[in-house]
Amino acid sequence: MSDLDALFEAARTVRKRAYAPYSNFLVGAALRAPDGTVFTGCNVENASYPVSVCAEGGAVSAMIAAGYREIAEAVVVGDAALCTPCGVCRQRLKEFGTDDLIVHVADLNGIKRSFSMDELLPAAFELEHKKD
Ligand code: THU
Repeated sequence: MSDLDALFEAARTVRKRAYAPYSNFLVGAALRAPDGTVFTGCNVENASYPVSVCAEGGAVSAMIAAGYREIAEAVVVGDAALCTPCGVCRQRLKEFGTDDLIVHVADLNGIKRSFSMDELLPAAFELEHKKD
């Protein structure tokens, strides 16, 4: 299995653990660090809707808690035509993405499209302490 296939499988597997009783839309995200370590997250909703956390947010938090700072490749899986990261999550991914980060967007059957970070978030806001 290729690294990308494994990343897709990790995202598809964690998606099944999503807590999404309000939207019924389950999402899984898997991030690969430059050394190959993989971190995953799923969306966690709340009765107070804005409290919800996206799959990408959970995966970024898991990565940071493990002491990592860089994302080389990411896969987001949702049961939709194109489950692209929301605007907030694009900013989250940008914070930690390597210069050549690719974000793959998948449905349950496989990757549908792949985006550079510049395609997802052109003219992104950044500050000098990024990745400190
Ligand atoms: N969602 C994610 O977790 N990631 C995405 O990339 C798109 C949307 C979640 C948020 C909410 O729990 C549900 O999907 C419906 O919007």
